[in-house]
Amino acid sequence: MTEEQSKYIIEVINKHGAKTHELINILNKIQNKYGYISSEAQSLIAEHTNTNKSQIYGMISFYPHLRLSPKPKTEIKVCCSSVCKNRGASKLTNQINNLINNYEKSSEIEIKKTGCVGLCGLAPVVFINDEMIDNADISKIKKILSKEHF
Ligand code: FES
Repeated sequence: MTEEQSKYIIEVINKHGAKTHELINILNKIQNKYGYISSEAQSLIAEHTNTNKSQIYGMISFYPHLRLSPKPKTEIKVCCSSVCKNRGASKLTNQINNLINNYEKSSEIEIKKTGCVGLCGLAPVVFINDEMIDNADISKIKKILSKEHF
């Protein structure tokens, strides 16, 4: 972490105050600025908010929009809530994982399960970066990924 980054993080903490209920606002600001919250940033936040690093890590892991590492080239989000699950989201997630695992640059792709995204009538729903795929199946996913990857 650079000195400038440390300075920014401490400024954000000082602005919000080192209170537990402000942690999410502090994490959101740091996420917005850097795209993720590094391990070093977590330590610094813990040190200046009278918490510990495992609490900070726990919060980042809990909130799906917060990241522990930089965003990959391709982010796949599969809705795994009830309607999508009933319409094959779990099987589709396994198929996507198999597809990615057989790809030499698999580190460029990250797959995440999400809660309901409010498009249940189009289930199963998948997002590849900002592109929404309705009634998703593995052939639609392959077609989109092949533009960038395969
Ligand atoms: S359950 Fe998947 S969009 Fe609602």
